[in-house]
Amino acid sequence: MDDESFQPTHLDLLAGIRPLVENFTNSTDELCFENLPEFGIGERKTIEALAPIVFGGAAHLGAAHAFAHMDPPTPWITWITTLWNASLNQNLLHPDVSPKATMFENQVIQWLAPFYNMSGGHMTPGSTISNLTALWVARDTARIDRIVTSMDSHLSIQKAANILGLKLLKVTTNLKGEIDVNEIPQDLSTSALVLTAGTTASGAIDDLRVKKEAAWLHIDAAWAGPLRLSENFTNILDGIENADSVSISGHKWFFQPKESGLILFKEVCTANKTISASSGYLTTRNVGILGSHGAIALPLMATLIAWGKSGLIERLERSMNRSIQLWENLNEHSEIIVFNKPTTGVILWRLNTHDQTKELFSLLPTGSASFIEYKNQFWIRNVAANPSVDVEVLWENIDRALIKFKK
Ligand SMILES: Cc1ncc(COP(=O)(O)O)c(C=O)c1O
Repeated sequence: MDDESFQPTHLDLLAGIRPLVENFTNSTDELCFENLPEFGIGERKTIEALAPIVFGGAAHLGAAHAFAHMDPPTPWITWITTLWNASLNQNLLHPDVSPKATMFENQVIQWLAPFYNMSGGHMTPGSTISNLTALWVARDTARIDRIVTSMDSHLSIQKAANILGLKLLKVTTNLKGEIDVNEIPQDLSTSALVLTAGTTASGAIDDLRVKKEAAWLHIDAAWAGPLRLSENFTNILDGIENADSVSISGHKWFFQPKESGLILFKEVCTANKTISASSGYLTTRNVGILGSHGAIALPLMATLIAWGKSGLIERLERSMNRSIQLWENLNEHSEIIVFNKPTTGVILWRLNTHDQTKELFSLLPTGSASFIEYKNQFWIRNVAANPSVDVEVLWENIDRALIKFKK
């Protein structure tokens, strides 16, 4: 018997993708199924019931004012290829259920690794797993017993230290949020030095050229890594070519749907030996932390084919330019203190009477900014993840909110 749940008609598929192009107003609807339904209502009715909740209740990351987090809107080619992935459900664990998907991943890695002078790597669900994978390799090939990193490095480094049973030394940061190079210990012979290219809080880039003889150098380029592809910004990542491993989040500045990340290694063959396992049920060795995993390279490969390198760079540079534009507006305002001129599209700012910054933040449209505590102060944070942001719209909102605080 044909099971229609596995064989949609064209009309079913159209019903499924229609919500992607409809305008749902903000929804406060809740799911009305308190208990697991005993009997299903069927796919079409489920789509009708869920679409207003899913789309109407979502944060719109591509909205004109959206400039809050490191989460970009995604190009529509990734929606379609993700749908293809869901329907095909390939598993990179077994070549026979991923005859082409493995090739896509190899292709993407082969395109991107040379920009960082890395020889290869694999895809992960994000930089948390990429960082853990890199430090696992560091522990077992370079015999490190300690991670040295800045106090502004991402919490995933702390997690990796905990999971891997490594000591963690957090070095202070300077006024720009970069690792304080003079505070890095001299003896790193049993340490992995983890530098950040684009810190989560302020977007700072550590000095990646720091000449320290670490047993392993890992660069967490989760956020700023893609800037390496732009001739105009490549220099800010100089030094990354000396790393033993590099993490990049695909779902940040490669504009990918979650979960998408890359871990790249200088010596991928040695690294892969360390993080591979075999088992009777596998025909090839399983590399990395994940067991079953899908073809997340496909949307990235499709994006890079659709846009080309120049299309990606144009969107990155546009995002960077918009952050500079916003920074100029903020910088000229007498009521505002700006932490930094954005080096990687992250801006922190506050009222000069900073105890009112939270109140100001509450007057801004949801999704236009984030609110953080950094260096013992509260800041409003804007992140240039949305290349379609309209800085004039954003600024109108900020300017209107500021009226209340004018002296
Ligand atoms: C610098 C840095 N490293 C690592 C991560 C973790 O990346 P992911 O969210 O892809 O796991 C983040 C996330 O914001 C980050 O900013």
